[in-house]
Amino acid sequence: MRKLTYFIACSIDGFIGAPDGDAQFFMPFVDEEFLEDFLKAEYPDTLSTHGRRPLGIDDLENRHFDTIIQGRASYDLALEAGVTSPYAHLREYVASRSLKESPDPHVEIVADDVLGKVRELKAEDRELGIYLCGGSQLAGALIDEVDELVIKTYPVVLGSGMPMFGSGFDVAEFTLDGVRVFKNGVLVRTYSRKR
Ligand SMILES: NC(=O)c1ccc[n+]([C@@H]2O[C@H](COP(=O)([O-])OP(=O)(O)OC[C@H]3O[C@@H](n4cnc5c(N)ncnc54)[C@H](OP(=O)(O)O)[C@@H]3O)[C@@H](O)[C@H]2O)c1
Repeated sequence: MRKLTYFIACSIDGFIGAPDGDAQFFMPFVDEEFLEDFLKAEYPDTLSTHGRRPLGIDDLENRHFDTIIQGRASYDLALEAGVTSPYAHLREYVASRSLKESPDPHVEIVADDVLGKVRELKAEDRELGIYLCGGSQLAGALIDEVDELVIKTYPVVLGSGMPMFGSGFDVAEFTLDGVRVFKNGVLVRTYSRKR
């Protein structure tokens, strides 16, 4: 079985964005060290195609993921910027019941049984894993299938905001696999799920 990894940016108090999901205020923390030593060196696959191009890393090999799944609201952010295939270096799935037709041949819409689709993707015999991009609602729907968390914590407190998982209360245990600390106060924790 390959892993479903929720790779996500959040505040100290665990929110992935403002109450409406806006997460732009995290961007100033993506400084040279964090970009070079972590994102480009370790997780280039999580950088969007339009983000990779100006960095000249269009052709960097995927290291962790070959597939991405995101919710329609997260995908909308790319559409609003005129981008229909924001992760062209990955197989792209967007969960949506309202998008009747995919805006791009490279993007597959998953309307029904997103859990079943993710289980099917996890069962594939492939080396690299599946990147759960978010947002909160889709992560909530897929919470039981999440095998790994990579949480980038930015040194801000929001007080309220969009939760990491839009789901009901339940206790799921994870094991801490690693912590990295960056000079600007960003912390990256990696956890694997206890099954
Ligand atoms: N901090 C970070 O690293 C990070 C990462 C990603 C996103 N975000 C933020 O997250 C926000 C969006 O999160 P969100 O929770 O509002 O929305 P979301 O999870 O991105 O998308 C929600 C939509 O996905 C579809 N969906 C969700 N569950 C589904 C299911 N079980 N079956 C079929 N379709 C399903 C529905 O689309 P339809 O309405 O079309 O049916 C739903 O309206 C954005 O503002 C973004 O900035 C932050």
